[in-house]
Amino acid sequence: MTASSTPVGELAGRHIVLGLSGGIACYKSAELCRLLIKAGATVQVVMTEAATQFITPVTMQALSGRPVVGSQWDAREPNNMPHINLSREADLILIAPCSADFITRLVAGRSDELLSLLCLARPMDRVPLLIAPAMNREMWLHPATQRNLRQLQADGALLLGVGNGLQACGETGDGRMLEAAELLEEVIAHFVPKTLAGQRVLVTAGPTYEAIDPVRGITNLSSGKMGFAIARAAQQAGAEVTLVAGPVHLPTPRGVERIDVRSAAQMLAAVRPLSEHASVFVATAAVADWRPANASEHKIKKDGSGKTPQLEFTENPDILATLAQSPRAQAGQLYCVGFAAESQDLLANAQAKLARKGVPLLVGNIGPATFGQDDNALLLVDAQSAVELPRASKRLLAAQLVAEIAHRLNAAKPTT
Ligand code: C5P
Repeated sequence: MTASSTPVGELAGRHIVLGLSGGIACYKSAELCRLLIKAGATVQVVMTEAATQFITPVTMQALSGRPVVGSQWDAREPNNMPHINLSREADLILIAPCSADFITRLVAGRSDELLSLLCLARPMDRVPLLIAPAMNREMWLHPATQRNLRQLQADGALLLGVGNGLQACGETGDGRMLEAAELLEEVIAHFVPKTLAGQRVLVTAGPTYEAIDPVRGITNLSSGKMGFAIARAAQQAGAEVTLVAGPVHLPTPRGVERIDVRSAAQMLAAVRPLSEHASVFVATAAVADWRPANASEHKIKKDGSGKTPQLEFTENPDILATLAQSPRAQAGQLYCVGFAAESQDLLANAQAKLARKGVPLLVGNIGPATFGQDDNALLLVDAQSAVELPRASKRLLAAQLVAEIAHRLNAAKPTT
């Protein structure tokens, strides 16, 4: 992985109070602390006494680079008010793990130990409180816990949900703390302005695979990373996102609905009905231009004569052009964005493609320089202008592109 592949900087300048209450899931919080710091945040760990039974403050201090605070009587604070100082320095407080008991303490507004005290003392208008519960499935399902969770949300806390699976106690069900990587995504998403709230975004990504016979096919080197990054950025900006992906080896971005397809024909069949409900379509997929005209039902074999098979090709449907010409797109209800992977003359080629595809925005990039990479450089071309987004991580570029799309959607809104 190159340096630019990590989400360095997505939390740059953010100060997070990471609160640990007692639970076996504390072991995941060590990894979470590392991930938050890797993403650019500064992290102040606060632990309840129960949490120190599961993981030591030494571990959390070493990972966060700051002494862990555990007592409201901590005399290191010059004013002896750690609950005030810690809660006012924070951009966000995350309780992970949040035990059933700690949820009860928050609901009751308890203030007899530091972590619940600083949650109570936080300025509610500017310091969000995120809760990552962790407990046995029966405890999770108990009406008392569910009642407390409803009250906690009504009191302004943001509940991050739980995972399902095998629990430390040997039982299986709901109540596992979300994984560190999932919690990191939740924290990052929390800081992203919701510029696409209410929008439904449809994204195609990756290559397509066009079968020659049951074991061979034609594909290309698209990794799908740019499209996946755009789906993630749109979701974090508040959109409902569906990602139609060709064959790629990438994890689905959190909160994104994913549909896997193989061929261009399958991609079009998946996209068409979805486009009826979408307000934005971003076509990043590297769709094969042609497919073998008659894919063989059985494996094509060598017959020893030295003769090579004669392949004939049929042109694939142009998914982007099809959608851009649809009545909804023509009526301004579906904003279509195309991509152009070129090897030279980016501006001229992108401008030509803009006109040929009939889209309002075309994003140019140099194909060989971006396929499979974690970074990229983009050229945003519309009928009037061309704007360069200089080389950066695909995640950062995706966020910039999403902000640009949101800006264009808002500019197109009729003023009342
Ligand atoms: O024509 P070309 O493949 O260069 O155009 C690239 C753009 O068109 C990309 O946005 C790509 O996702 C889209 N496309 C498509 N269906 C095709 C070919 C390209 O949606 N058959």
